[in-house]
Amino acid sequence: ERVAVIGGGQNVEHHVSAASAVAVADALWSSGHSVLLLEIGTDGVWRAEGDALGATAGESLVAATSFLAASDVVFPCVHGPRGEDGVLAALCSLAQVRVVGSGVTTGAVGMDKHLAKLVAQDAGVRVAPGVVVPAVEAEAVAFSREVVVKPVASGSSHGVSLARDASELMAAIRAAGRVSGDGRVLVEQPIRGREIDVAVLREPDGSRWAAPALEIHTDGLFDTRTKYDGSARFTVPALLAPEEADALTRAALTLFDAFGCGGVARMDFFLTDEGVVFNEVNTMPGLTAASQVPRMFRAAGLAYEDLVGRLVEGARW
Ligand code: DAL
Ligand code: MG
Repeated sequence: ERVAVIGGGQNVEHHVSAASAVAVADALWSSGHSVLLLEIGTDGVWRAEGDALGATAGESLVAATSFLAASDVVFPCVHGPRGEDGVLAALCSLAQVRVVGSGVTTGAVGMDKHLAKLVAQDAGVRVAPGVVVPAVEAEAVAFSREVVVKPVASGSSHGVSLARDASELMAAIRAAGRVSGDGRVLVEQPIRGREIDVAVLREPDGSRWAAPALEIHTDGLFDTRTKYDGSARFTVPALLAPEEADALTRAALTLFDAFGCGGVARMDFFLTDEGVVFNEVNTMPGLTAASQVPRMFRAAGLAYEDLVGRLVEGARW
């Protein structure tokens, strides 16, 4: 099959997305697919194998769309806004080409940390209490204790910080607003618990299953720096009591269904003394061979090349 893999993108996760795309393309090449690697620049210009497809974002998109339409399957590896939020799924839907991963609505809702919490709550999964504010209305947030401030729409923890007093809160809201897709910011009560992620895969036959949970160990916040400087340690499978592992798997499958996910999604949780708390969903999670999702499936006996191959096979119209 001819697979067009898209990486890069116009947000703060550009480099992570480029790395995911290269790893996916390599895996597809080695398993005999014909692969075209497309990269979206931070300026929005699409490139094919390094060559710009036009002078502007709009011009290059026209040429890129014809490459996509000529493929059997498109594999978008763009994390964050203007990628993971459903826009690439929408483009493929209009071009009537099969695409890996979740559909438009799932991507859009999953990218919005506030809407995603509402869906999780509706599905009976606990979330951190919090409020959402436009960055310009930072002064309106009542402050009484330490809070977590994060962009409503971003990834890799860019713009996430802890605020301990009113002046830190202002700075934190402004910083989060700058990288949030639409300027909205979430102010949440910090959750004390173990950070545990669960990945769920939609098989080509439509069934879905969860890989063993992964625990993240950091000295402080699992933030942008510790995510990519190698200092965070993962334990997979996470060391859990059977009832804890059950509760996490059940929550992950419930959420995968509630969001209507396709392909692979990673649900990020806190395991607290009171049980499982949903943090966020990644509908296009990091996909380098060293990323969390491939590690979790490897622990279940599914090799990286096979995971990527199944995602292509399960691509939807
Ligand atoms: N947003 C990053 C890439 C992840 O979810 O792994
Ligand atoms: Mg994320």
